[in-house]
Amino acid sequence: MSHVTHLECSVCGKRRESGKIHNLCECGGPLLVLYDLEKIKKAWTRDTISGGPCNMWRYAPVLPVRDAHSIVSLGEGMTPLKRTARLGARLAAQNLWVKDEGINPTGSFKARGLSCAVSMCVELGIRKVAIPSAGNAASAMAAYAAAAGIEAHIFMPRDVPQSNYIECKAFGAHVTLVDGLISDCGRIVAERKDAEGWFDVSTLKEPYRIEGKKTMGYEVAEQLGWTLPDAIFYPAGGGVGLIGMWKAFSEMEALGWIAGKRPKMIAVQTEGCQPVVRAFERGEPKSEFWENAHTVASGLRVPKPLGDALMLHAIRDSGGTAIAVSDEELLDASLELGADEGIFAAPEGGACIAALKKLLASGFLNTSDRIVIYNTGAGLKYLEAFSTRFPRLTASEQDKLGGLITPR
Ligand SMILES: Cc1ncc(COP(=O)(O)O)c(C=O)c1O
Ligand SMILES: [Zn+2]
Repeated sequence: MSHVTHLECSVCGKRRESGKIHNLCECGGPLLVLYDLEKIKKAWTRDTISGGPCNMWRYAPVLPVRDAHSIVSLGEGMTPLKRTARLGARLAAQNLWVKDEGINPTGSFKARGLSCAVSMCVELGIRKVAIPSAGNAASAMAAYAAAAGIEAHIFMPRDVPQSNYIECKAFGAHVTLVDGLISDCGRIVAERKDAEGWFDVSTLKEPYRIEGKKTMGYEVAEQLGWTLPDAIFYPAGGGVGLIGMWKAFSEMEALGWIAGKRPKMIAVQTEGCQPVVRAFERGEPKSEFWENAHTVASGLRVPKPLGDALMLHAIRDSGGTAIAVSDEELLDASLELGADEGIFAAPEGGACIAALKKLLASGFLNTSDRIVIYNTGAGLKYLEAFSTRFPRLTASEQDKLGGLITPR
């Protein structure tokens, strides 16, 4: 299976042994997993990969799990990459594609990261995990922990979408709703984990979620016949998907699976929480904590991403950009995608469509560019947000009005 050689700190470069339990480096930097790509190149071709299972574990040789029995899978990955010609024609984007991650187990791309992280917990003998989450990572954590028979402790903002709360409860997790944001949840996990014996599965504080998420990069290349698009739109909270895809592109280049220009990586945030956009615009290497973060795209309510430096590096290296849109714009755009293409996107996915409009209008992108939008979640998970556009009287309110449909 895996050909991991070691782990390496993304900040100070210090090496760590694989097959051990790791969180952050002592310098505070996230650890990244490295593979013997030369060996993989000899044993695997991209055609062998294409013959694998129809989920993200087809890329097992470049994933960290050593023993196939450790894999905890609910069928994540190999999501549709759909050419969205009708929406494209309206926006004057002639070559527009949507990678629909809402199809994943628990309705978001978070399934990829958590499938990989929980599989590694199984491999390393970890029995109790804790996660601070903006919502969807919590749902995925709870599902994979349930599938693995591991105890899950979830900390998320009290005002997460109802779907996230109910999913976690339905999966039998221990749920704590916190009056605050993901940053406050992270603090609670950090304070309590040692006494409780929890393994901290916070974004980038453990090295394996990013490995699962990087499969979005492998998959888009495979689905486009081992070529890459001109631009990728990614709704960035913690930014792990973007960093992961960037890692996947270097691995695939080393494997000889792809060549040529990499896509412009475009990080999309919202006006109410845009630390990465601000840092990008100011030319800073890191972001600053965004005060009073608020947006209906709850996955993007991350006021200070731990991977900000890695994200900014990938955006700049790619010739990409970072851009913010308003909540109104992103809800409008989600509904346009829905009505034009039959894809009910999460607000985060809608944010990417709204950002695309701006970058076509500004000339940053050309109408002929091949563009891939990551719709990271299912619109169905955000009924409160979309209800604001389609208000409906509840049964009891109808009753008060006299019952036009049913007799009183
Ligand atoms: C639907 C959705 N999209 C995007 C994000 C942001 O993901 P990342 O932290 O990898 O940037 C999240 C995070 O919760 C999410 O739930
Ligand atoms: Zn370090």
